[in-house]
Amino acid sequence: MAKWKVTVVGAGNVGGTTAQRLAERNYADVVLVDIVEGLPQGKALDILESGPILGYDSNVTGANDYEETAGSDVVVITSGSPRKPGMSRDDLLKTNQNIVGSVTEEVVKHSPETILVVVANPLDAMCHVAMETSGFPRERVVGMAGILDTARYRTFIAEELGVSVRDVFALVLGGHGDTMVPLPSMATVGGVAITELLAEDRVEAIVDRTRQGGAEIVGLLQSGSAFYAPSAAAAEMVDAILLDQKRILPCAAYLQGEYGLNDLFVGVPVKLGASGIEDIVELGLNDEELGDLNDSADSVRELVQVLHG
Ligand code: LAC
Repeated sequence: MAKWKVTVVGAGNVGGTTAQRLAERNYADVVLVDIVEGLPQGKALDILESGPILGYDSNVTGANDYEETAGSDVVVITSGSPRKPGMSRDDLLKTNQNIVGSVTEEVVKHSPETILVVVANPLDAMCHVAMETSGFPRERVVGMAGILDTARYRTFIAEELGVSVRDVFALVLGGHGDTMVPLPSMATVGGVAITELLAEDRVEAIVDRTRQGGAEIVGLLQSGSAFYAPSAAAAEMVDAILLDQKRILPCAAYLQGEYGLNDLFVGVPVKLGASGIEDIVELGLNDEELGDLNDSADSVRELVQVLHG
């Protein structure tokens, strides 16, 4: 029996791949939950049977109910209907509100002390649903989006400049939608600002492609949305929490005055450790960046109003 237990709700591509990545970490038992009979059990068994080859002995189980999830240290919520081509994340709002609401209710019944990592879209709005349904403090509800969006931004910058992604530092703030805020001023390659390395129109093109990063994958796949990078991002957050790494990572956090925003989930850098969100990092943004962040916050606020309507 491993030291920790992580539950992944939703056995689709994102959930299944997240469960796989976590099992391969070999630090936690993994429970995969889905309402579809056989799906979580089948994927869990398949992942379990990879253990002898890859050399991990995490226990991996699948379930259609929440009994087995009891006492989870972290619960990753990926459930919900995925985006289809031409569909915005926001179209998913009402359907996924119901799904994430009932999932959260079940999760917290069995794991009242857990930390919720929300992955379902529309991301920022689903964080609200998870927090309101769970009644958890803001430290224990955190959304996955900024790491994914930042990874896409870093990929495009590295590709453009012909350098390793490892030497590209960048940051995307705001909601996980078309108004997200990739910050050119904070993007550096080996410490040099990209604004010094690239012409303005190239920076703009990269920022634009980052904003459309999710849709680009949806358009290519035609059915379903991205899952390799999203699951990698979710697993990085679980690492930070379980291993108490105190990483500074862009995540959706419930702001209460930070960045001049109140009672709203927005993507900002947070310190992620064993208690969940241990701190919110307030960057010194210029007026334009603050304006963009506010616009992005407005679009999240609109969705939250629909949720409450
Ligand atoms: C993405 C979708 C899933 O960004 O939100 O890939």
